[in-house]
Amino acid sequence: MPDALLSVRGIHTYYGDSYVLQGVSLEQREGSIVAILGRNGMGKTTLIRSVAGLTPPREGEILFRGASLRGRPPYAIAQDGIALVPQGRRIFRSLSVRENLLLPTSGLARPRGGRWTLDSVLREFPQLAERINHSGGALSGGEQQMLAVGRALMANPHLILMDEPSEGLAPRLVQQVEGIMKSLREHGHAVLLVEQNFALAMSVADYVYVVASGRFVFEGPPAALAAAPDVLDQHLGVAGAKVN
Ligand SMILES: Nc1ncnc2c1ncn2[C@@H]1O[C@H](COP(=O)(O)OP(=O)(O)OP(=O)(O)O)[C@@H](O)[C@H]1O
Ligand SMILES: [Mg+2]
Repeated sequence: MPDALLSVRGIHTYYGDSYVLQGVSLEQREGSIVAILGRNGMGKTTLIRSVAGLTPPREGEILFRGASLRGRPPYAIAQDGIALVPQGRRIFRSLSVRENLLLPTSGLARPRGGRWTLDSVLREFPQLAERINHSGGALSGGEQQMLAVGRALMANPHLILMDEPSEGLAPRLVQQVEGIMKSLREHGHAVLLVEQNFALAMSVADYVYVVASGRFVFEGPPAALAAAPDVLDQHLGVAGAKVN
């Protein structure tokens, strides 16, 4: 793909002797939403961690905006413009909303400029503005998810890695997360989304990959996945699911 933002090329990723990603390749265009679907323990988070440099692949290559990420530590990858919204949100419960938002930029030697500042993030998420001095632990699950996204935006990333943002959220808040992702795409950010919420992924994604036991078993646009009953049944357990 000539205009790929992210190219993952045949990566193999391990935890010690445990062989998890077994030759995974993926391409993502600028400003697109790509979803990774798959059952528990199949390697979704490991893929996110591979891209973020937290568990670098032992073989294969990851290119971001045409440059290899090989050997780059997580902070350098963040500086390159990849932000992570981790599984379980990982906000600091004892710090205030403001402190949580300011933390990622406070340590950067060269803060990345861009449209996202404390003010613009708070305009995007008025619920956070109302709770600016509350501690992270006092927020609802949905507000914590907004905070995790807002914190990622503060780095003005090109690509946002989101690991199961809808996990544990009530349906109304899942809708809100869906709206947030569409709004990120409108603002020109690409999102690499890991989800177990099939309907959510199918409704926001431009392109979908299905992972099973560390390999991709399907890739294509959401409509093609909806028309692949074997994949839905075998790998996602959503046979006969209605899409939208
Ligand atoms: N730190 C680790 N050390 C050893 N093995 C790990 C580690 N983290 C994950 N694994 C194993 O790697 C495999 C893939 O895990 P991963 O977290 O990528 O799955 P996942 O698809 O994100 O699952 P979930 O949907 O439950 O979040 C699993 O078998 C898991 O047990
Ligand atoms: Mg996971």
